[in-house]
Amino acid sequence: MTEVRTGLGWDTHRLAWGLDLILGGVRVPSERGQLGHSDADVLSHAITDALLGAAALGDIGMLFPDTDPQWKGADSAVFLAEAVRRVRAAGFTIVNVDSTVILEKPKLKDYRLTIREALAKTVGIDIDRVSVKFKTAEGVGPVGELRSSEAQAIVTIAR
Ligand code: C5P
Ligand code: MG
Repeated sequence: MTEVRTGLGWDTHRLAWGLDLILGGVRVPSERGQLGHSDADVLSHAITDALLGAAALGDIGMLFPDTDPQWKGADSAVFLAEAVRRVRAAGFTIVNVDSTVILEKPKLKDYRLTIREALAKTVGIDIDRVSVKFKTAEGVGPVGELRSSEAQAIVTIAR
């Protein structure tokens, strides 16, 4: 019988002027970018945790501690690809990924397809199984005040 599981992921990063904004491995033109030990790709981090969570394999910080100089400025696609490898090694196939990025600006919808394509490639599934949604925080709280970004992800896996 097929065993179906879901996993949940969430992440947040502080925003700062003049940094690259990387989402799902794609560099999006922006006045502000995300601050972090790695490339601070909030979306890839949330999806990485969702995958690890679905297979009960821990979390991103267990695999890639932000105290480890090896991961300074790291491409988060490496983290995501490693989570995919571990989930597959446990015998699972990845059914779908759904996600939401909460960012006040810039508008991201023109980058949806590029981000979905990049994520589909890293996760190794068809693009029609990868969803990326965008929301503002309506000017409220740290996200609304342009101080931070957030991402949420949910994945389904089966074996
Ligand atoms: O947050 P709000 O409901 O106003 O977002 C409306 C739409 O604007 C979203 O459904 C999304 O398509 C788009 N959006 C965007 N980039 C953002 C935030 C929202 O493209 N940073
Ligand atoms: Mg992160």
